[in-house]
Amino acid sequence: MKKLIIINGPNLNLLGKREPNIYGSLTFTEFLEKVKGKYPKVSIDYFQSNIEGELIDKLHEVGFSFDGIILNAAAYTHTSIGIGDAIKAIETPVVEVHISNTFNREEFRHQSFISPNAKGVILGFGLQSYELAIQSF
Ligand code: DQA
Repeated sequence: MKKLIIINGPNLNLLGKREPNIYGSLTFTEFLEKVKGKYPKVSIDYFQSNIEGELIDKLHEVGFSFDGIILNAAAYTHTSIGIGDAIKAIETPVVEVHISNTFNREEFRHQSFISPNAKGVILGFGLQSYELAIQSF
């Protein structure tokens, strides 16, 4: 059985409530339950934190044993050299995911410290971006 983990960064715990015009009105828990039901042969763990160091610790923890990491580092995407370095340091491939199309938003969202170290990038498909990432493994 393939072992994947979805790691979500800051403010993504508020999905469903947060700017629903951009991020939709489904909570991540609701979404995850549906997706898990759709891919019963894949093990999908989930971790969310608003704290940069906790995201790095989780990458270290899973990064030598899991088959794939699906990472939405949220705002840290655009600022965190530490998360970028953590992805370089681990062995498990990381697929970078974003709900919104960061390239049609503010200029500061066009920069990513994740992309150069990621296996691939999927963005702009709403929560379906995560599902496409699951399918990529
Ligand atoms: C996001 C895009 C980021 O720019 C933003 O800071 C987020 C969410 C997305 O999934 O669209 O928090 O990663």
